[in-house]
Amino acid sequence: MITILCNYCVGETAALDGASSLVRFAPERNAKIFMSTQVVDEARHLEVFLHLLADLGVEDAEGEIERRANPALHEFRGELLNLVDVGDWPAAVFAQNVVLETLEYTVFRFHADNSDPTTSEVLRGVIADERRHSGFGENHLGRWLTAHPNGRDHLRRVRAQLDPLVVGVFEGALADLDIPRSDRPPLANDYADAIDRLGLT
Ligand SMILES: [Fe+2]
Ligand SMILES: [Fe+2]
Repeated sequence: MITILCNYCVGETAALDGASSLVRFAPERNAKIFMSTQVVDEARHLEVFLHLLADLGVEDAEGEIERRANPALHEFRGELLNLVDVGDWPAAVFAQNVVLETLEYTVFRFHADNSDPTTSEVLRGVIADERRHSGFGENHLGRWLTAHPNGRDHLRRVRAQLDPLVVGVFEGALADLDIPRSDRPPLANDYADAIDRLGLT
């Protein structure tokens, strides 16, 4: 459970760092407003997961996160922040609000269905927010791709670059949750569907 929560903290921090920088790059005011609400959500998620770690007796959360985090998740975070740093708004929104959110949403939902009542309740609150974040990502990018059909190939390349990390993060999370291979939810349900809806297959 400590390892799972440490990885959640890495994911939430990546989204917090990403969303807070993206406020500046957002091409329109409504997108800035949305991103700023996401910043607050991600900070709250991080806070609640740190509280759960403390409840489990973890005194040095930074040290535990450093020791236990999945390398693929760290690498994903690096890729996301690179896209943010170069100001590539559509690619960063794709990595953060479609890829990361869909991953989190799938793992959190599965975890919530297989957990104690307190953790489930916390996760269900987080899931409701993550749904909103991925909804923004898909709607926004759907409109962006209609206006910039040539951008589809760019996002496909980003997707191809992130795909191995996504699989690594997902497999790692399910292994940490101790789910037998036969009972694991297919990533295809959420991730591949989102990719498909955006026409990025
Ligand atoms: Fe979050
Ligand atoms: Fe989120």
